[in-house]
Amino acid sequence: MKTNITQNISSKQNSKLHLQVNHPVEIIKKRIYKVFGSLFHKFENLSEVVNVTNNFDLLLIPQNHPSRKPTDTYYVDENTVLRTHTSAHQVELLRQGYEQFLVVGDCYRRDEIDSTHYPVFHQMEGVKIFKNTDELTVKNDLVETITTIIELLFPNAPYKLVDSYFPFTTPSYEVEVFWNNKWIEVLGCGLIHPDVMKNAGRENEQAWAFGLGLERLAMILFKIPDIRLFWSTDERFLNQFISGEIIEFKPYSKFPECYKDIAFWINEDYNYNDFCELVRDTGKDLVENVSLIDTFKHPKTGLTSHCYRVCYRSNERNLTNKEVNEMFFELQTLTSNNLHVKLRV
Ligand code: DAH
Repeated sequence: MKTNITQNISSKQNSKLHLQVNHPVEIIKKRIYKVFGSLFHKFENLSEVVNVTNNFDLLLIPQNHPSRKPTDTYYVDENTVLRTHTSAHQVELLRQGYEQFLVVGDCYRRDEIDSTHYPVFHQMEGVKIFKNTDELTVKNDLVETITTIIELLFPNAPYKLVDSYFPFTTPSYEVEVFWNNKWIEVLGCGLIHPDVMKNAGRENEQAWAFGLGLERLAMILFKIPDIRLFWSTDERFLNQFISGEIIEFKPYSKFPECYKDIAFWINEDYNYNDFCELVRDTGKDLVENVSLIDTFKHPKTGLTSHCYRVCYRSNERNLTNKEVNEMFFELQTLTSNNLHVKLRV
């Protein structure tokens, strides 16, 4: 199997924003660390390259689950992926005998392109083991822990636990917080499934687990409007956070956007994430957004065409027509050659 990791992705593999002092992702991480005493081991440097077994199989993620597909996940080879979540480390750490731990790391997913999606993002995972106890005790401890996290991050905000589903926990919950006049999901959690505990060689014990996205929390808490900003090296961004506090981000001037439309006849192998990957690879962080603006089915041939609007905008500077045209030309060429679709011109 050929890897689907692009140059754009591999260039980000060692960035580890969670270790960059006073970066918003690091500030949120540290804030949550305050909830956990020294009994919790903290893993921040586990390799993002993990095997399929750890990322999916041992967590009971079904063979036909869409997240396993190469359209959604970056494969190094058939048996190895860039972790799609920090849950990938649950079983290996439990097998190694750890009883209470946090894992923070960069995770990778192929996805659409807009202000809240970026193919590299950071998660925190928490796990705590209990021996000789009942489910209620474990659940109460989970709720107490989650409550402390939420009250620290969102003081005085109403919150609730909502029933949810994850293959590796039962029961499973999502935590929602009422913030800026709406309910928002902030984390997933639950009691680790008995079969996952068995996979970890700990069938006689019980455990809770939670997982959360650090960019998502940082966007909400710092009011950061565009997920690409986390990757900015511009001092107008980074210098706003030197206090290490959670403060409101002050946007600096917005530069003009430049959009281009591309239309092509799709075939049955066509996948939107594959197209987005080409947009990212040719446009890097200068792409702000991609949207499907028109679908047309030809009455005679039965073929379907999609028209996408690709919006280019830098958060740092004005783009020149020349550079946008070059990126877009490269996108047209790769779309036609790599996706085997016919461009409409
Ligand atoms: N791994 C899940 C995700 O990426 C998040 C998650 C949910 C982690 C529930 C957990 C958990 O540990 O118990 O969507």
